[in-house]
Amino acid sequence: MTKPLIRNCLTAIKPYVPGKPVEEVERELGLRDVIKLASNENPLGPSPLAVETLKKQLACLHYYPDGNCYYLKQELAERLKVGPENLIFGNGSDELLSLITLAYLNPGEEALAVQPTFSEYEFAVRLMEGTMRYVPLSGRDFDFDLEGLVGEVNEKTRLLFICSPNNPTGSIMRRRQLEALLDRLPPGVLVVLDQAYYEYVTDPDYPSGLEYVQEGRPVILLRTFSKIYGLAGLRIGYGIASREIVQDLNRVREPFNVNSVAQVAARAALGDQGHLERSRALVEKGRKQLQEGLARIGLRPVPSQANFYFIDVGIDSRAVFQAMLRRGVIIRTGDIFGYPTYIRVNFGTEEQNRRFLAALEEVLKELKGN
Ligand SMILES: Cc1ncc(COP(=O)(O)O)c(C=O)c1O
Repeated sequence: MTKPLIRNCLTAIKPYVPGKPVEEVERELGLRDVIKLASNENPLGPSPLAVETLKKQLACLHYYPDGNCYYLKQELAERLKVGPENLIFGNGSDELLSLITLAYLNPGEEALAVQPTFSEYEFAVRLMEGTMRYVPLSGRDFDFDLEGLVGEVNEKTRLLFICSPNNPTGSIMRRRQLEALLDRLPPGVLVVLDQAYYEYVTDPDYPSGLEYVQEGRPVILLRTFSKIYGLAGLRIGYGIASREIVQDLNRVREPFNVNSVAQVAARAALGDQGHLERSRALVEKGRKQLQEGLARIGLRPVPSQANFYFIDVGIDSRAVFQAMLRRGVIIRTGDIFGYPTYIRVNFGTEEQNRRFLAALEEVLKELKGN
């Protein structure tokens, strides 16, 4: 059989490497009680209210979902104090990234992001035969480099991806910097402000971003129900932008992109303030617990406003990953982000954090031979 020719732009795309699922590790290594701290999920799980509500929806699976997400949109618009016409939902915020490049990037045009960052921006750009350019984060705290970003914008730049808090570093772009960036961008550049970890931020200099949408700046905010809301398995995220941008994205959106179960669960999750607060509090405790525990074994994580740390362990992180796996702890290696001696770990429950710290201490002793 002759294979059909794949589009040229796709040959450079490396398939996304997801965090290893717990069941796979237990099956392959014959382990029980494996913990996954690799995909920045919520260790408390979803809101029980969301689970109750979605069970009722199961009886209606023979109907197509509401393609307009009407009730969820009304509820969220009210909470955010924006109009329903400023919202668009996606099958995870991942889908919105592809809708953005589909709508705004012509072949040969360029997008800009920091390095290291979330890999799906490059995927979405390549899909449209675009070129991705990177500006490195700076210093040991992986700060955003305003001058570097402004300096890299050229007449072909159409999109600027700002992931804040940034995956995998947890660093944020502060209000003053972000506003200076918006002021200095030429017309025709859309800023995609990815706020997947927005709800975990405690720094008062972090902007919500809503003000930029309200001021009519060329910005789209991306948020998700996958992280603090604990609904990653249902796939639902949303964008907040001007009516015009939402209209453009609706041109390329499939009519039933968000399933009916996700819609009702997300709406119920929004109403469960208690679960949100417990999840936030757990992350604050985890941040402190891990920072102190890491300091005890001589490690310093990059200061993080998210629910994970990026940590230089000083040796090949793939060996650390394998040795942690044998102890039933799944983490992420930094090589996929271009930092082969770093690991990324998300905060778990207090007990999971303890297990991670104990395993890491053992593994580093074993591998460093001291
Ligand atoms: C920065 C960032 N943006 C977007 C996503 C994707 O989220 P979703 O599950 O809503 O597609 C992730 C998931 O890890 C992420 O880290």
